[in-house]
Amino acid sequence: MHTWNDIESMICSCGRCALGQTRKNAVPGKGSHAAQIMLVAEAPGKQEDLQGIPFVGPAGKVLDILLTSAGLSRKDVFITNIVKCHPPGNRDPLPEEQEACMQYLRAETALLHPPVIVCLGRIAAQKLIAPNFKITREHGMWVHRKGYWMTAVYHPSAILRDPAKLEEAKRDFQSIVAKVQEIEESKYPL
Ligand code: URA
Repeated sequence: MHTWNDIESMICSCGRCALGQTRKNAVPGKGSHAAQIMLVAEAPGKQEDLQGIPFVGPAGKVLDILLTSAGLSRKDVFITNIVKCHPPGNRDPLPEEQEACMQYLRAETALLHPPVIVCLGRIAAQKLIAPNFKITREHGMWVHRKGYWMTAVYHPSAILRDPAKLEEAKRDFQSIVAKVQEIEESKYPL
């Protein structure tokens, strides 16, 4: 099993796909190494590329609103992406870029081993939950897979484009907290 330092240095020196040539900084996952909740989005944006930290741009502000609304903060979660380098022009990461990067998400997941994994947006949900996942219809639903409880919520950028989605996303974040509590209570049935 790798250490967090191993994973970060592998990501930061990665040249497994062409994004390695255009990135300013690779963006390894960041957050609590004891988090019960792992948030997985698609790929770093422009600000994240400049700083090497996930969700530091406008979408990060929306993410903070969602976390706060559920009584959470960044200290309670681990935030990462399927693809660790910014796709030029903010395009969707290509299937081959996602596949080339999956070994890093697998390593992060194996080390954190969170009870709950939350996909932020369609791309992460289609990669981790089901290839035909429909975010509008299926956000907030739960599946139990390989020992992890998994769900998907709207991507914070989708909420920026359509603020009407905010209330639904807040409800989904409350259901995440409820799921963590339910898992915790099931360990101590008495
Ligand atoms: N959008 C993402 O999908 N990931 C980030 O880290 C930031 C914005």
